[in-house]
Amino acid sequence: MESNYQDRIPNNVGLGANRTLQRALEHWQPEFLNWWHGLGPSDFNANSVYLRTAISVDTKGWATFDYVKMPDYRWGIFLAQEEKDRRVGFGDNFGQPVWRQVPGEHRSTLRRLIVTQGDTEPASVEQQRLLGHTAPSLYDLRNLFQVNVEEGRHLWAMVYLLHAYFGRDGREEAEELLERHSGDADKPRILSTFNEPISDWLSFYMFTYFTDRDGKFQLKSLAESSFDPLSRTCKFMLTEEAHHMFVGDTGIGRVIKRAIEVMKELANDDPIALRKAGVIDLPTIQKYLNFWFSSSLDLFGGDSSSNAASYFANGLKGRPDEIKYEDHVEAESSFTLELPDGKGGVREEKIPMRNAVNEVVREAYVRDCEKGLARWNRHLEEAGYPQRMTLPSTRFRRTVGSWANIATNPEGKPISQEEFNARQDEWLPTSHDRAYVHSVMKGVFERGKMAGWIAPPERGINTQPINFEYVKFH
Ligand SMILES: [Fe+2]
Ligand SMILES: [Fe+2]
Repeated sequence: MESNYQDRIPNNVGLGANRTLQRALEHWQPEFLNWWHGLGPSDFNANSVYLRTAISVDTKGWATFDYVKMPDYRWGIFLAQEEKDRRVGFGDNFGQPVWRQVPGEHRSTLRRLIVTQGDTEPASVEQQRLLGHTAPSLYDLRNLFQVNVEEGRHLWAMVYLLHAYFGRDGREEAEELLERHSGDADKPRILSTFNEPISDWLSFYMFTYFTDRDGKFQLKSLAESSFDPLSRTCKFMLTEEAHHMFVGDTGIGRVIKRAIEVMKELANDDPIALRKAGVIDLPTIQKYLNFWFSSSLDLFGGDSSSNAASYFANGLKGRPDEIKYEDHVEAESSFTLELPDGKGGVREEKIPMRNAVNEVVREAYVRDCEKGLARWNRHLEEAGYPQRMTLPSTRFRRTVGSWANIATNPEGKPISQEEFNARQDEWLPTSHDRAYVHSVMKGVFERGKMAGWIAPPERGINTQPINFEYVKFH
């Protein structure tokens, strides 16, 4: 039984010996496959794709590469290795043993946290379902599908927790995860960023750089949870998430590199000349960056949040890398927020540290985002160009938190709404910019070939050459 299950649903949760869980998953799996066929990648399901599959959590098994047709991908269930004698790492119960089962008083909050995380995973697959047709190379097409199947697995990971620990209401939530759909008028996905279609590859790279990185920080916060199965599930998901951000990081870097090459060839950095030459100019890349960075910041929630404070107090969701903080209880400490003063300026306000957890995590996220910018700017520096990519202020274009709907420029200076309206075309993608970006998106499916708007990657996947047949069309 175990080996049979291991084959169909690779796992390290003893699925073969758990009849109740088997029955729940046997019921859910066909619905998942229906969802995949209906709302996963359009077409390409008959192609063989060079994918990694996790078949165990040790270093050898977590990334085995082979040709797979996507519907035959083996979506497994994995928890990171159990830590002996793990203790609650923060909040009021600091130092007590962690929970192997869901405490009754935290049941509905934990379920909500798991459902909110789970909802983003299939949402992103839905958002990206048409992208395959305009892939700039087989290498990129393969990366898209790798991200898609792994987001599918992350859905499995959350559904496992719902089935294994939340009984009947968990099963119902698992079904609803397949019933809400990105952009659906009646049943949209829970978070608004995940209802925006992603219909061009520049947006895809921005999404995997900025929005998947929000995912990384959410998973790191949940990996600190006192509910140990959630913690272990998220730790393993983080190993896969790293590749998604790599796709975004190197993708944006390659678009910039290609723009630089053409700037050199033409001895001209005029956006109009670059567009005539079929590449994406730097100001357009910056506008996309401004858009995706600001929309990803909203995902962290309000800067002063009583929910965040109670998650922290109760040990449900914490700060990434909690071990690095000195005070794990934060009962008395405070945090200074910078808020709009309502008169076009900025004022400071001290709030309890526990209420500022979202802001603390957001700050850590911003520091992590800056690393990619440093890498991209190195391309510009080495080529001798003075232009630099920059992150806009965290106050810019926010729709959540104290700065929601307050007009500022990208440097974070409060401005009038009239000035914002007059200048937003300099800062955010216009319909014209989007139409241009769309116009260069044409699928390139020949081995080793790249679309004209992007440079080749520095190396291939899993030590394969760049001209490897990453997706087979026969
Ligand atoms: Fe994910
Ligand atoms: Fe991801």
